Amino acid sequence: MISPTEKKLKALITGASRGIGAAIVIELESQGIEVITPSRNILDLGDPISVENYITKEKSSGIDILVNNAGINFLNDITDINDRDWQSMIQINLTSVMQLIRGFSPYMKQQNWGRIINISSIFSIVTKESRGAYSATKAGLNGLTRTVAVELAPYGILVNAVCPGYVQTDLTVANNSPEQILQISSHIPIKRLAQPAEIAKLVSFLSSKENSYMTGQSLLIDGGFTCL
Ligand SMILES: NC(=O)c1ccc[n+]([C@@H]2O[C@H](COP(=O)([O-])OP(=O)(O)OC[C@H]3O[C@@H](n4cnc5c(N)ncnc54)[C@H](OP(=O)(O)O)[C@@H]3O)[C@@H](O)[C@H]2O)c1
Repeated sequence: MISPTEKKLKALITGASRGIGAAIVIELESQGIEVITPSRNILDLGDPISVENYITKEKSSGIDILVNNAGINFLNDITDINDRDWQSMIQINLTSVMQLIRGFSPYMKQQNWGRIINISSIFSIVTKESRGAYSATKAGLNGLTRTVAVELAPYGILVNAVCPGYVQTDLTVANNSPEQILQISSHIPIKRLAQPAEIAKLVSFLSSKENSYMTGQSLLIDGGFTCL
């Protein structure tokens, strides 16, 4: 087997059609990494069978870097959360991440090198009304990140979560009115939302050989929002 220091690295990025995922693709490609971005038709994270079928097909394709970026956020107060929304959020934001790590880490273990980055959220640490399901999935993701980091560290695989604050993407626009976005911006010490490319830079560092010692962490990147 060619050592990962000699070969061109290959990354699998979920949810790469837009937003933060699309920015991560641009950033990793600019670092010379080959990027695979299956669309929802090929890999439907909401369907555990689709995820397993994808893994069976691709597990020998040599994924060195796994970025679990796709996520959804249906807003509802606890009295109104319906079981279908709850289940799809748990499946897409958390269970599919476990499945992909379980499926793709054996190759990384075999070559004694790998990087896994899970895109979490500030709402794994703080929260806001109507984010019960979302916060539960993202807090679960941080917990999964820590345990998997401990299990895979002896194999040269570093696993971290990135927890963005408010980022200028479709998801943010769908869940906040323009007035709310203005108000949120005024509460962020940096006084603006993040651009997806700013999140991608952190993911790029965590995916790289430059990161040789950080693992198991949930890193907040929020313009200082959670410091207040
Ligand atoms: N935006 C923020 O402010 C913010 C803040 C903190 C954390 N995050 C997290 O960052 C990640 C990306 O957020 P974003 O704002 O960039 O989201 P976005 O613009 O809404 O894009 C979501 C991506 O996930 C994909 N996706 C959704 N359901 C899927 C499914 N069932 N199967 C496969 N792919 C699916 C979408 O694919 P399609 O094109 O097929 O729909 C799309 O590529 C999420 O995990 C989110 O929770 C975002």
